[in-house]
Amino acid sequence: MNWLTNVFVLTNPRLKSWVNNNLTNMLTVSTDFANKKSLKRNTMKRHKTIIPLSHDHHVMLKMAQGVKKNFIKTELGTSTISNKVKHVIHVYNTELLPHFNHEETLLFPLAMGKDAELDILINEIVEEHDQIGEAISKIEEGNQEQNLDVLGFLLESHIRKEERIVFSKIEEILGDDLNIIEGQIYAVTDSCGI
Ligand SMILES: [Fe+2]
Ligand SMILES: [Fe+2]
Repeated sequence: MNWLTNVFVLTNPRLKSWVNNNLTNMLTVSTDFANKKSLKRNTMKRHKTIIPLSHDHHVMLKMAQGVKKNFIKTELGTSTISNKVKHVIHVYNTELLPHFNHEETLLFPLAMGKDAELDILINEIVEEHDQIGEAISKIEEGNQEQNLDVLGFLLESHIRKEERIVFSKIEEILGDDLNIIEGQIYAVTDSCGI
């Protein structure tokens, strides 16, 4: 707008209010866009040593959602309860346990003892691994639809907590010390056909 248009708009109350409303909308849209971009940047920013774990999380998250009640967006979500149970038990033994093992024997020992808050988070995460194992046992015992649902929520929140909070904290505290275990952690879900 040139100065003449500015004067016209500022002296016309209806135009002034239109400009104010639309300017606010435009600013909101651009802030949302910036937030989405920064969220994308945050999820993409991962130290190369732990990228394989994040890769596993991506696959495991789909399974966690697929075993929840009334989740029909994936092939697993629409399959029978007994197929879900078979699949979950197979994935637990062949993928979840090796993944937990990478975290508990390689990553967490390197990260422990450097930051009090991080130590608490890691202890919580290890406890959650046990809770996930217990949820698998309950599925095998009975009341399968309900117990699959419990497992789905538990696993989903566990993965999100690792991705959003714990791994970010580990990267912040350890930085390039993560290079010490580079190459020792690999993605266990590469063969997973979910
Ligand atoms: Fe974990
Ligand atoms: Fe994990």
